[in-house]
Amino acid sequence: MTSAPLMEAKGLKRHYKVRRGMFAPTASVKAVDGVSFSLTAGETLAVVGESGCGKSTLARMLALFEEPTEGEFFIDGQPTLNVSTEQRKKNREAVQMVFQNPYGSLNPRHTVGRALMEPLIINRPNMSSVEREETARAMMTKVGLRADHFQRYPHMFSGGQRQRIAIARALMLNPRVVVADEPVSALDVSIQAQVLNLMMDLQDEMKLAYIFISHDLGVVHHIASSVLVMYLGRPVEFGTTQQIFDNPRHPYTRALLGSRPHLKKPGEKVTRSVLTGELPSPLNPPTGCAFHKRCPFADQKCSTERPEIREVDGRQVACHHTDRVPLAA
Ligand SMILES: Nc1ncnc2c1ncn2[C@@H]1O[C@H](COP(=O)(O)OP(=O)(O)OP(=O)(O)O)[C@@H](O)[C@H]1O
Ligand code: SF4
Ligand SMILES: [Mg+2]
Repeated sequence: MTSAPLMEAKGLKRHYKVRRGMFAPTASVKAVDGVSFSLTAGETLAVVGESGCGKSTLARMLALFEEPTEGEFFIDGQPTLNVSTEQRKKNREAVQMVFQNPYGSLNPRHTVGRALMEPLIINRPNMSSVEREETARAMMTKVGLRADHFQRYPHMFSGGQRQRIAIARALMLNPRVVVADEPVSALDVSIQAQVLNLMMDLQDEMKLAYIFISHDLGVVHHIASSVLVMYLGRPVEFGTTQQIFDNPRHPYTRALLGSRPHLKKPGEKVTRSVLTGELPSPLNPPTGCAFHKRCPFADQKCSTERPEIREVDGRQVACHHTDRVPLAA
């Protein structure tokens, strides 16, 4: 039985108008250019790709901080665009965001207790102050912090603890989906594992779905159930973690994974390519397939015709020549 999607994106786009110089005409940056996926409770969708491919822009749209230029986006089957104030409030409670730098969501002048109670003060006006404090203290314990540190300020905690506070704050309203943009990238490796394990435990306990953005493919392999690979704003491959890591079908995915030698199985032959060449400017993307100048399988068609995303080996791939991509050994 397949469960109903908790989050569903259909052709999401976000284009920005930018000026290249004081008197130059405006140009358009297609930061996100047609992303579709669906996500069910308990799943983690990782979004990967080189810097500037649109991961954070997509995250901001999914967390309802920015509206798409085009496309549709549903949370729990409900639309998110042009909706009533009441529906918008429900949508905002259902999706919360965790940033790379917890200072982005924590006011340094507010105690942890205040930071955690704030969403309740705004969204649960009928809750008594005693109940709010109890709920906040219980959440501190749940994320591995000491409840008696309730009156401490963010600077009195370590980086890992601050990220726990940011996670706690994101969970105060019992969201269904958490969008996490590089949530462990700024932490020491030993602390990263602890915070990731905490996120996975909370996911089980609260039946959360995660959108997880990361540069670290080792982390993605560990935490994700599905992976969306983006290149210059467009999805190039979307499949289960096993499909993407064991047998990538898009040349870009192969190249991206090839640059992570530790992911190879012991004894595996080095058949995967490594990403070479410069990332094109998003202000002046190549014609045809945006990856063609870096792709070892490119031909004339690739430089003129943009490949649409289609089903290949049970996952979605945007490439004219997946048959040229060798299968993993
Ligand atoms: N507000 C904005 N105005 C104009 N261009 C923007 C804006 N926000 C993002 N961009 C551009 O959109 C593209 C995607 O940016 P985004 O921050 O989403 O990438 P990213 O994948 O998160 O990168 P990184 O891995 O470095 O965090 C980039 O070319 C960026 O310069
Ligand atoms: S469409 Fe062509 S250039 Fe693009 S990834 Fe496929 S083979 Fe390479
Ligand atoms: Mg980013």
